[in-house]
Amino acid sequence: TEADYHRVATTTDLHDGDVIEVQVGKTLLAIYKIDGGFYATEGVCTHAYARMAEGYVEGDVIECPYHGGAFDIRSGKAVAAPCTQDLKTFPVRIDGDAVLVGIAS
Ligand code: FES
Repeated sequence: TEADYHRVATTTDLHDGDVIEVQVGKTLLAIYKIDGGFYATEGVCTHAYARMAEGYVEGDVIECPYHGGAFDIRSGKAVAAPCTQDLKTFPVRIDGDAVLVGIAS
């Protein structure tokens, strides 16, 4: 299925190292800015119910607010126990000052 692009933020809403939570339909997302680039992952940890936007950005990694788990922000890859399942990632496009995230419809 093709991704529909949804506006989730304005580029100036985020500074490097920020993460925010956005809900698009039924999909809860975490939107990140690191090294000037924007990234999107699913908004809930794959280990238990923690909101990733309440976690801590450390370089390229988001640390879960619970249990010390962590994920690579760009790839969604689980990089610290107890997380073993990767976070789903979503494509991001910038259009003018709009941050757009592609969600399969
Ligand atoms: Fe994220 Fe446990 S809920 S590490």
